[in-house]
Amino acid sequence: MQLSEQANISCMVKGGIFDDAKTWDFVFGFLMIASLGACGISQGAESVEERDTLAVDDSTLTEEGDDADAEAVQEAEEVSSETTGTAPNEQAVGDAGVFDLENGMVLLNSGYEMPILGIGCFRLSQSQAEDSVYWALRDGYRLIDTARIYGNEEGVGRGIQRAIDEGICTREEIFVTTKMWTDDFGDGDAAIDASLSRLDLEYIDLMILHHSQPSNDVEAYQAMERAVEAGKLKSIGLSNYYEPEDFDRLVDATTITPALLQNETHPYHQSTVMKEHIAQYGTVMESWFPLGGRGNTQVLFDDETISSIATEHGKTSAQVILRWHLQAGNIAIPGSSNEAHIQENFEVFDFELTEDEMQRLTALDKDQRFAGY
Ligand SMILES: NC(=O)c1ccc[n+]([C@@H]2O[C@H](COP(=O)([O-])OP(=O)(O)OC[C@H]3O[C@@H](n4cnc5c(N)ncnc54)[C@H](OP(=O)(O)O)[C@@H]3O)[C@@H](O)[C@H]2O)c1
Repeated sequence: MQLSEQANISCMVKGGIFDDAKTWDFVFGFLMIASLGACGISQGAESVEERDTLAVDDSTLTEEGDDADAEAVQEAEEVSSETTGTAPNEQAVGDAGVFDLENGMVLLNSGYEMPILGIGCFRLSQSQAEDSVYWALRDGYRLIDTARIYGNEEGVGRGIQRAIDEGICTREEIFVTTKMWTDDFGDGDAAIDASLSRLDLEYIDLMILHHSQPSNDVEAYQAMERAVEAGKLKSIGLSNYYEPEDFDRLVDATTITPALLQNETHPYHQSTVMKEHIAQYGTVMESWFPLGGRGNTQVLFDDETISSIATEHGKTSAQVILRWHLQAGNIAIPGSSNEAHIQENFEVFDFELTEDEMQRLTALDKDQRFAGY
């Protein structure tokens, strides 16, 4: 299948023709296989050692003792943080990737802090996304995951605005992720502006390429690098890179190290090889399908190990799985359009899995993916 055919399908998806789970699985599987088949592998140039892992521009720093300049810089930073969000934490970048379970945060290699538990918006309509995002923010979530291809960025933006208008949170307290779809890789600059406009935001905390696409993902990533320079994006990363060589191909050909890799990850597919591989870059793993994905969750919920640990803690299987993600060092973004589920999924900071329980859950890994792409 040619890329133009993918574009047609994507338009149909965006238009809301595909609503049911099976069709979504089919479409995404189809697109993924077609993308991989249509593209060749390109080679990168730089070595890992040559790379700068920081996306921090320190060109405005002043010398010690220059009070006037220091004041000016402070003022500029205050203004900048009002208009473009929290400034990166440069001192602590050495701790990138270490999960703070007390505060529910992780420091990215970009210098920005990111919440480790969020709301996912895959398969939510515009109005469902608006409600889910609003409920999540009201319940204490501060991380939101959407994508251009989900067709609900406007709804996400409205949910955020509702929460801000009600004084639940400020823009700076929220971490918004969206993804650039493969059809848009040829004009990444326009894709970024379009997402900003649909979300109705001045900046996006994290943008990731939705899938590996060797024919032009480097070009798309470079557009995101330019947007970091321009202050439109804070951090950038990748999604659906399942081979270390493929991840390195992108990394070696670009300048800013990916802050995050978002791959299908759950107790039956623990992404161990990729997690170990990306750790050398200070890149963190984020789990999509953290509960197995729509239509598959019951398989995990009914797993004897998971359900028995849940009973021991007086928690649900979903909560045990989510707690496992966090203790294992995976950012989790469970998707839901159900108000009660959204609340339940955030109640995972009041208990802890023992080492033995973590080992029993780790032993469930079967390298089994639920998605067909
Ligand atoms: N990068 C990618 O290619 C990619 C691919 C897929 C997903 N994602 C992202 O990852 C997020 C998570 O994946 P996902 O939403 O597909 O799958 P998921 O989070 O593993 O599972 C979502 C399913 O779990 C149910 N659920 C949620 N909480 C529950 C609870 N406490 N008890 C019982 N059922 C519960 C939801 O139903 P209810 O609505 O009824 O709660 C829904 O059917 C997505 O929303 C999206 O943001 C990214």
